[in-house]
Amino acid sequence: MSDYNRRDFLKSSAALAAFSGASAAGALLPAALAQAQGTSAKVRVGLMLPYTGTFAQLGVAIENGFRLALAERGGKFGGRELEFFKVDDESDPPKAPENANKLVQRDKVDVVVGTVHSGVAMGMAKVIRESGTLWINPNAGADEVTGALCAPNIFRTSFTNWQTTYALGKVLKAKGHKTAVFITWNYAGGVQMMGGFKEGFEKEGGKLVKELYLPFPQVEFQALLTEIASIKPDAVVSFFAGGGAAKFLKDYQAAGLKGKIPLYGSGFLTDGVLEAVGDAGEGVETTLHYADGLDTKKDNAFRLAYAKTYKLQPDVYAVQGYDAGQLLAAGLDGVKGNVGDKAGMIKAMESAKIDSPRGPWTLSKAHNPVQDMYLRKVVGKQNKVMGVAWKALADPARGCKA
Ligand code: BEZ
Repeated sequence: MSDYNRRDFLKSSAALAAFSGASAAGALLPAALAQAQGTSAKVRVGLMLPYTGTFAQLGVAIENGFRLALAERGGKFGGRELEFFKVDDESDPPKAPENANKLVQRDKVDVVVGTVHSGVAMGMAKVIRESGTLWINPNAGADEVTGALCAPNIFRTSFTNWQTTYALGKVLKAKGHKTAVFITWNYAGGVQMMGGFKEGFEKEGGKLVKELYLPFPQVEFQALLTEIASIKPDAVVSFFAGGGAAKFLKDYQAAGLKGKIPLYGSGFLTDGVLEAVGDAGEGVETTLHYADGLDTKKDNAFRLAYAKTYKLQPDVYAVQGYDAGQLLAAGLDGVKGNVGDKAGMIKAMESAKIDSPRGPWTLSKAHNPVQDMYLRKVVGKQNKVMGVAWKALADPARGCKA
């Protein structure tokens, strides 16, 4: 972050602290106050995730991953235990400011970990920027969060929407596809993943001939699939996730398009859903920052520990939650658990080298992972890694003054 941004952030944090309490001690957050008093209060962590609705499974995987990172460190980060405060955000953007405030104002958390849905993340951003609370975003890809709305207290352990589809342009070109249709939900997540794909594909000389949208979280795909059949593009590219992705894969097959028009997507289309879709996903190729079969020491150990603990196979969401835990650990280790030293925590987090199951990554100046994008193909129940579609892809962070 630039000195200008850092100065502004520290000034607004100090102003807020002064506003929230008359004395210097009163201005400290609860855990920081306890630290100053030499007591051992827990670090207060707010989990704002979807626990109901089409993204419910994603929220659970993120929390599982986060708790696994904590368990691996004996239940402490920076020598401090954590206390959790949970809000189900229902993937409902209009409720996002109120939900974020429940954690920030009511529960007075030291750090917020959330969320999944880009629209909800946009609703959280204002509350987080105004309060100066540390925010680790373990999924929602809204480009603005580490773009125009970037701030010293905002970190992401996942991706930008742009990052997940930009590399697909090169992939389709290599396959000889010249035209494509993009189909997705009409909200920030879908529109921005379409935008990343369009930019990458058109740079390679391809043409995006049609953008097809339906409202989030609707899953009535039939009319749009009929339209695709009549357009006959060389390829279809898609973003859906969770329950919506499973239904789309099955409907694509039932509409007779599978095997006729090759289907691609950002990896969310096939991550965490293959058990539910029979052979409807077989052969679908996607790009994402995680894949099955990476066969590294770190990934193998993570997968084994996750499966043993939760009796479930991990997916990309579990990895992002795990890395959110690892990033918070780096921050708290860097200040020896003194959560009141926010500037120290930010510095430690900015320079963290995360040893992730996806492969090692670091943060960009805008606090978004710079990471490899894998090409994956569905083989049986796996998103099998086929290679690296783009090495160390950094989001352009458009509008970020960092
Ligand atoms: C998003 O809204 O940013 C999103 C939701 C689910 C999976 C990936 C991205």
